[in-house]
Amino acid sequence: MARNLTFSIFRYNPQDPISTPHTDTFVLDETSHMTLFIALNRIREEQDPGLQFDFCCRAGICGACAMVINGRPGLACHTKTKDLPENITLMPLPFFTLVGDLSVDTGTWFRNMAQRVRSWVHTDKKFDPRAQEEPMDNALAEEIYELERCIECGCCVAACGTAVMRPDFLGAAGLNRLARFVIDPRDRRTEQDYFEIVGNDQGIFGCMGLLACEDVCPKHLPLQDQLGMLRWKMGWAGVMNLLPWNRK
Ligand code: SF4
Ligand code: SF4
Ligand code: FES
Repeated sequence: MARNLTFSIFRYNPQDPISTPHTDTFVLDETSHMTLFIALNRIREEQDPGLQFDFCCRAGICGACAMVINGRPGLACHTKTKDLPENITLMPLPFFTLVGDLSVDTGTWFRNMAQRVRSWVHTDKKFDPRAQEEPMDNALAEEIYELERCIECGCCVAACGTAVMRPDFLGAAGLNRLARFVIDPRDRRTEQDYFEIVGNDQGIFGCMGLLACEDVCPKHLPLQDQLGMLRWKMGWAGVMNLLPWNRK
């Protein structure tokens, strides 16, 4: 028998001076293969046209629909209601600036993060449009591609205790982005260059290593491996800095 689902949804419009944070309740009959994305659209079409939430691809690719689903960050378009109890609580991702209701601004944070880690291949080679593509070892290309699969949804940052307490923390998404360049042989930056960016409390040494980030990542990125690799490399870079002949 089809269930009636009860949604408790956070509501607040920070642009509206008379709006106050509260929860609204909506009841909806469950249909087969219903996702939270479908449910939210039905609530907006049938019950409250003012409900704010984000989506774009509906296929787990754009990262726009991330929210806190019964206490756990996840993608609305990838979450089936059949996997949830009848009472469903939806909150916006913490940490990011609230736009309204379930919609948050992840874009500004991700743009700043990309600038902080200088998210491009640093090379001294001059660009030659007639040059042939340089081959790369398949295994290495796959390793880099694996880290490129981040969809910038913000779930890992929202689940991270350090990030929520310390807004200047790079978070798993930022550390993963840097790790992508550390393993890319085309990037000419040295470990000391990377140490300047993440060898501090705002970077890898602020990470407590409890791995909520990896638990919630909807793309199952190997965040644990990247955090471990960076901690090891940056630890050694820090030790090298302490040697008397390396001190400036
Ligand atoms: S392991 Fe590090 S980055 Fe991941 S959630 Fe914990 S503190 Fe945050
Ligand atoms: S690392 Fe995973 S959880 Fe974090 S932003 Fe990228 S896809 Fe989302
Ligand atoms: S709508 Fe794009 S990831 Fe959910």
